[in-house]
Amino acid sequence: MTQSPGLFISFEGIDGSGKSTQSRRLAEHLQAQGQQVVHTREPGGSTGAEEIRALVLQGDPDRWSPETEILLFTAARRDHLERTIQPALAAGKTVICDRFADSTRMYQGVSRGDLRAVVDQLHDLMIGVEPDLTFIVDMDPATGLARAKSRHGVEERFEDFGTDLQEKMRAGFLQLAHEYPERCRLIDGAQSPDAVAADILAVLAERT
Ligand code: ADP
Ligand code: TYD
Repeated sequence: MTQSPGLFISFEGIDGSGKSTQSRRLAEHLQAQGQQVVHTREPGGSTGAEEIRALVLQGDPDRWSPETEILLFTAARRDHLERTIQPALAAGKTVICDRFADSTRMYQGVSRGDLRAVVDQLHDLMIGVEPDLTFIVDMDPATGLARAKSRHGVEERFEDFGTDLQEKMRAGFLQLAHEYPERCRLIDGAQSPDAVAADILAVLAERT
C-alpha cells in the first residue's frame, strides 16, 4: 500500500509574533495525540541550510544585496526541502515549519524594492511546493520587535532594519492572506499564548 503524504503546515508573520512558540506547541500537541511530527524552521532545517542561516542572519544589515539574499534563502530552502521536508511528508509525517517561502516573498520580495516577481520565478523554478496550511500570526510591530529584541541573540540582521520594515512586512503578510485564501489563515498574536494556541487548534480541526 502506498503511504499517503503527510500534512505540511507553515507559520508566518513578523519577527517576535510568536511563530516559534506556537509552532512548537502545535508540534507537541499533535505528538501527544500520537502523530508523527517533524518540527523544523527556515532558514535552516537541514545541515547545509543551517550553515546558510548563519550567513544570512548575522552581520551588517547591508552585508548582502537583495538579489543575493533571494539566492541564499532559496538555496537553503531547496536543501531543506530535499533532505528534511519531502522525506518526512513522503513517510506520512506532519511537517510544521517555522517560516517558509512566504517569508522570502515578504522580506526579499518587498522590503528593499519590488523584487516579488523574481522571488516567485525562482520559487517556481527551484521549489514549486506550497504548504497545505499557513498560519499567519498577526502582531503589532512595536510589540513584536520588543519581544524579538528581548531574546538578545546574534541573529539580529533583520531586526536591525527597524520598525518601518516590520510595518511593511505586517501589511504584506495581511495582503498575502488575501492572495492565498485557500491555505492562509490569520491568527491574532496579541493574545495570551494559550488563547493563540486555541485559535490555531480550532482552525486545524476545521481543516482536517
Ligand atoms: P517569533 O518566532 O515569531 O519570532 P517567538 O515565539 O520566539 O516569536 O516569541 C518571541 C518572544 O515573545 C519570546 O520571548 C516568547 O516567549 C514571547 N511570546 C511568544 N508568544 C507570546 C504571547 N502570546 N504573549 C507574550 N509573549 C509571547
Ligand atoms: P526567524 O529565526 O524566524 O526570526 P524571528 O524568530 O525573529 O521571526 O527568522 C530570521 C529572520 O530571517 C527573520 O527576520 C526573517 C528572515 N527571513 C527572510 O528574510 N527571508 C526568508 O526567506 C526567511 C525564511 C527568513
